[in-house]
Amino acid sequence: MEEQGAPHLVVLTGAGMSAESGIRTFRATDGLWEEHPIEAVATPEGFARDPERVLRFYNERREQVRRAEPNAAHRALAELEKAGIRVSIVTQNIDDLHERAGSSDVLHLHGEILMARSSVDERLRYPLRQGGIRMGDLCDKGSQLRPDVVWFGESVPRYADACDIVAEADLLLVVGTSLAVMPAALLLEQVPLDADAVVIDPDAHQLAPPGVGRLALPAGEGVPRLVEHWKATGRLEVPDHLLATGLAPSSDNG
Ligand code: OAD
Repeated sequence: MEEQGAPHLVVLTGAGMSAESGIRTFRATDGLWEEHPIEAVATPEGFARDPERVLRFYNERREQVRRAEPNAAHRALAELEKAGIRVSIVTQNIDDLHERAGSSDVLHLHGEILMARSSVDERLRYPLRQGGIRMGDLCDKGSQLRPDVVWFGESVPRYADACDIVAEADLLLVVGTSLAVMPAALLLEQVPLDADAVVIDPDAHQLAPPGVGRLALPAGEGVPRLVEHWKATGRLEVPDHLLATGLAPSSDNG
């Protein structure tokens, strides 16, 4: 039997978490990622067809991430951890903004842009402290390096770990994800029966499944608002008056 320990907040984040840091979301752009078709830059077939283009694309994204700074939402989650709440973050984002804000428990479901990996053995991973990946940069097995990012059509090796984390939540906070990509969206189904879930997203009223709380605000406003409350009370409750501070739903029948 587990002792009553610190309450455990699990946070599932998506591109909207980093939007206020200047990193664009995906689905707002009509199947294009920073002007490139997704199939060209985010599939194994795209890499096989034109590896140089794919490497250049991620090298540019990596420089963008290096220039970006954590925003108020990243910082609030790191402060909550310092205040003694157990905070586990499962992020779909490939940037390192949660870590740079000071969060210590971060699982990257879709990989990390600041890492390279072998194109024949996904366990061979290498940190990219500066610069990018060039054609001819090889792993220890002699194959071309590629970004350590999970592409469409590839398996998500950390999914089982993420399920285990969500299954231990006292509260699941979902921030800035359209919940359009599998299997990440299925993580909501792993929440224990006696735990609540809340979605923070400007589109929360459209996205949140029935029974899930909604705070229709940008991450940089919504996350600090909840975190201040939790720091003050030491408890992971979500009072109705805080949810009511999000924009009112236009027509909400359930
Ligand atoms: P999406 O672009 O699909 O969704 C972004 C979400 O962020 C939308 O629901 C927006 O309403 C919301 N949003 C926008 N601005 C926001 C803000 N300031 N604060 C809070 N929310 C905001 O991104 P993801 O759901 O993360 O995969 O996409 C999932 C995966 O699809 C990504 O990890 C990526 C992508 O293809 C890979 O790269 C493998």
